[in-house]
Amino acid sequence: MEDLKSKYLGLIAAASDEAAIEDVRLAALGKKGEISLQMRELGKMSPEERMVAGPALNALKDEINSALAAKKTALADAALDERLRSEWLDVTLPTRPRRVGSIHPISQVTEEVTAIFADMGFAVSEGPQIESDWYNFDALNIPGHHPARAEMDTFYTHRAEGDDRPPHVLRTHTSPVQIRAMEAQGAPIRTISPGRVYRADYDQTHTPMFNQVEGLAIDTDISMANLKWVLEEFLSAFFGTKVKTRFRASHFPFTEPSAEVDIQCQWNNGSVTVGEGNDWLEVLGSGMVHPKVLAAAKIDPSIYQGFAFGIGIDRIAMLKYGIPDLRAFFDSDLRWLRHYGFSALDVPTLHGGLSR
Ligand code: PHE
Repeated sequence: MEDLKSKYLGLIAAASDEAAIEDVRLAALGKKGEISLQMRELGKMSPEERMVAGPALNALKDEINSALAAKKTALADAALDERLRSEWLDVTLPTRPRRVGSIHPISQVTEEVTAIFADMGFAVSEGPQIESDWYNFDALNIPGHHPARAEMDTFYTHRAEGDDRPPHVLRTHTSPVQIRAMEAQGAPIRTISPGRVYRADYDQTHTPMFNQVEGLAIDTDISMANLKWVLEEFLSAFFGTKVKTRFRASHFPFTEPSAEVDIQCQWNNGSVTVGEGNDWLEVLGSGMVHPKVLAAAKIDPSIYQGFAFGIGIDRIAMLKYGIPDLRAFFDSDLRWLRHYGFSALDVPTLHGGLSR
């Protein structure tokens, strides 16, 4: 029995993998294993002999079993250690470079404009791009026969045969949003409304879809002086330089008086620099909101008054970032987008600087 014990403990110690351990187990304790055969011999022994041999064989069997189990655990631990040694990953390595998308200049400039006006206490309002004839025109004091309707090169939607309600339009400006905002909130109100607008027009500085931001401030003591200050403050913050402005008397049906605003600039070989020079460039329309417009939005014009303005976002984006052709904004040309686009992480803020 001592021989069997040292033989199998030796084999177990020498086994180098799970399959070898299993072989040893079968050789010792399998159905035809050496120790199992010895156990079978017990039946032929005399009771006295069996009293001695039985417990000894059982003890041997237990000892071999626990040696097998211990070796199995040791092998598994060693295998795990080996894997941990050989399979590792440096999670601090940078990833492979991949092309990432960029923020479109229109989105970037919209954010910049919003940041500046938010700092002056303006909220942001939005409205539908398909607008009723009333919100886009009538409420803004542009009645059916008014030439402004024709001038705006409006896109009309289709009405069913026999339906003679006026057709809806693709909004020609974001001014209808000021009506909606006044209806919803009443006065006082300070809000801007950036968004897409549509006019049937196409050349280097006009596309059938473009972007505007409308501004509106209504209270009991608002004058043209407030309008001038707000616009100059905005233009200087946006262009990052003190911008000289020129307010030119103009006409809009929805404001009285009305002014178009030019900024001082300089042309140099076809490119334009803002904030210096002897030229002027028109960037926006503005004025004191017409009493009829306030009344249409259910605000009492004998108590409240205020100003409104409309800026072409694409126009000021072209000026600030030196983009020569408006049409390229909407071509989705990847090379253009990579060149003029902005990093998604470069969020415009007043404290961080508005641009890259
Ligand atoms: N809605 C005008 C346009 O699109 C711009 C504007 C807005 C003018 C507000 C004055 C006041 O041309």
